[in-house]
Amino acid sequence: MLTARIAVLVSGGGTNLQALMDARDRGELPHGSLALVIADKPGIRAIERAREGDVACAVIPRKEPGFEEKVLAALRNYKIDMVVLAGFLGILSREFIQAFPGPIINIHPSLIPAFCGKGFYGLKVHQAALDYGVKVTGATVHYVNEVPDGGKIILQRAVDILPGDTAEVLQRRVMEQAEWKLLPAAAELVAADVVAAEAASAAKE
Ligand code: GRF
Repeated sequence: MLTARIAVLVSGGGTNLQALMDARDRGELPHGSLALVIADKPGIRAIERAREGDVACAVIPRKEPGFEEKVLAALRNYKIDMVVLAGFLGILSREFIQAFPGPIINIHPSLIPAFCGKGFYGLKVHQAALDYGVKVTGATVHYVNEVPDGGKIILQRAVDILPGDTAEVLQRRVMEQAEWKLLPAAAELVAADVVAAEAASAAKE
């Protein structure tokens, strides 16, 4: 295996997917290949971004029955080695996580363990940070397990909260200064581990 085949799950604007594709194009994802985007609903900007970025894209509506089974089938069909949740709003079940043999990583727009877990997503995360009055927030990339935002932390980056920040302004700063840098870097770290593990097991055969 020269590169780890990556699937990216998306639910919205796809700016984190864009960051991954841009990093790829800058040569900053040498151990990963973006093989598939799975959108959990039609008509989202992430689908267009995938097309513009020449990444195969499947739309599997999360609201329809059999969502996880269909996603697992797509991951098998595309021979995916690792999954990146990039603005994905679903919570994957324990069964799904146990059924997929490779690593799954997620970007969360706060410094876990702050402002994370059930119900903390998108603007709500930033509003909670503003309401609490913290002076620093940021983003975290972590492994996914069955606990929402509960897996081992891979990378974090802090971002200052400034006087007068609104949730929208803060979200944008966290995306620009943290998310869009961390996710590609974490994807490359995990992809390199996947490739190394594959090489080690091949050497044993
Ligand atoms: C962002 O707030 C991101 O932190 C969260 O989902 C939101 C949209 O992400 N994970 P994207 O633009 O769809 O990548």
